[in-house]
Amino acid sequence: MSELKEIINQTSFTKSDIVTMLSAKSENQKLLFAKSKEVKEREVGKKVYYRGLVEFSNICSKDCYYCGIRKGNTNVSRFNLTDEQIIQAAEFAYKSSYGSFVMQSGEIQSPAFTLRIENLLREIKKRTNDELGITISLGEQTEETYQRWFDAGAHRYLLRIESSNRELYQKLHPNDSDHDFQKRLDCLYTLKKIGYQTGTGVMIALPFQTLEHLAEDILFMKEFDVDMVGMGPYIEHADTPLYEYRHLLMPLRERFELALRMVATLRIVMRDINIAAATALQAIDPIGREKAVKVGANIIMPNITPGMYRNSYKLYENKPCVDEEPIDCVQCLDVRIQLADATIGYGEWGDSRHFERRNNKSDSL
Ligand code: 5AD
Ligand code: FES
Repeated sequence: MSELKEIINQTSFTKSDIVTMLSAKSENQKLLFAKSKEVKEREVGKKVYYRGLVEFSNICSKDCYYCGIRKGNTNVSRFNLTDEQIIQAAEFAYKSSYGSFVMQSGEIQSPAFTLRIENLLREIKKRTNDELGITISLGEQTEETYQRWFDAGAHRYLLRIESSNRELYQKLHPNDSDHDFQKRLDCLYTLKKIGYQTGTGVMIALPFQTLEHLAEDILFMKEFDVDMVGMGPYIEHADTPLYEYRHLLMPLRERFELALRMVATLRIVMRDINIAAATALQAIDPIGREKAVKVGANIIMPNITPGMYRNSYKLYENKPCVDEEPIDCVQCLDVRIQLADATIGYGEWGDSRHFERRNNKSDSL
């Protein structure tokens, strides 16, 4: 078996290489992080791009075993922002010179929902002079819906695979047609076919999950040729079925460290993609996202949901910034990013370099 210091200089990686990177401790972990920082700065630069995130509704038709806003949780009060509130959040992102805006919500599939988002996208494009990049993260939908949203102006889509291992996926979800692994995969391929910059991601340190599973996740991302990744540590939520297995979890600190090694390893393996510093990192460590930026992440998604609704969008416990208003986060983040030895790409879309290269390649074929 090769040593870590040789592996990190390779250009292709086996599952066993990746497991070695994910297991790096103390001095080896430092080597891994130094390498991922070097790769990041060379391939995508020192800039961090902001995506103002609005979590506009926690109404959800799904029942994923890990998620605090699952349909079956009756302890959540459900909310749905008005169109005007969402548009105002987009205008706030635009005025704050965040290059992009992300709309996320619980998963709803209906003609009315499709139309609502389509109209919102067109209105946001109009009110922000076509200058604001728009990412959406609205779960599994039909090809027609994805296409309509793309035509209305969304150009990036985030759909986490959660785990690329079918058996593990099935342990985390009800065994029914609403939570079908193959459907999730098909959706990812459809998004890519339509032309979205496609993002996926996984939860890290889940119950039943091994380092081999995580290595497979990285190989899956590479094989799928993903443009963006958002991944963070799993954090248990008392009102969910998976809470029963909390005795199988690593301590929070170890989950956090493993998540950082996942970010660093992915940066070394995929080099020029966009990697988001997940908010869940900050639920464990007050400067968790900044630590992820240091080891390879280049995207931060400041929450710009109006303050009073933030408490109701709790996918996991300890969610940060729930008492803040959007303006508080702007100031707070500026200071934080400077600490992470990075600069902010204000007013830039910050598209995935990988996506640009992937497209140029196919243009020249
Ligand atoms: N801990 C960490 N991340 C979670 N997500 C959902 N529930 C949890 C949890 N308990 C993540 C999922 C989902 C994203 C929006 O949030 O990966 O795709
Ligand atoms: Fe929200 Fe600091 S990022 S208050």
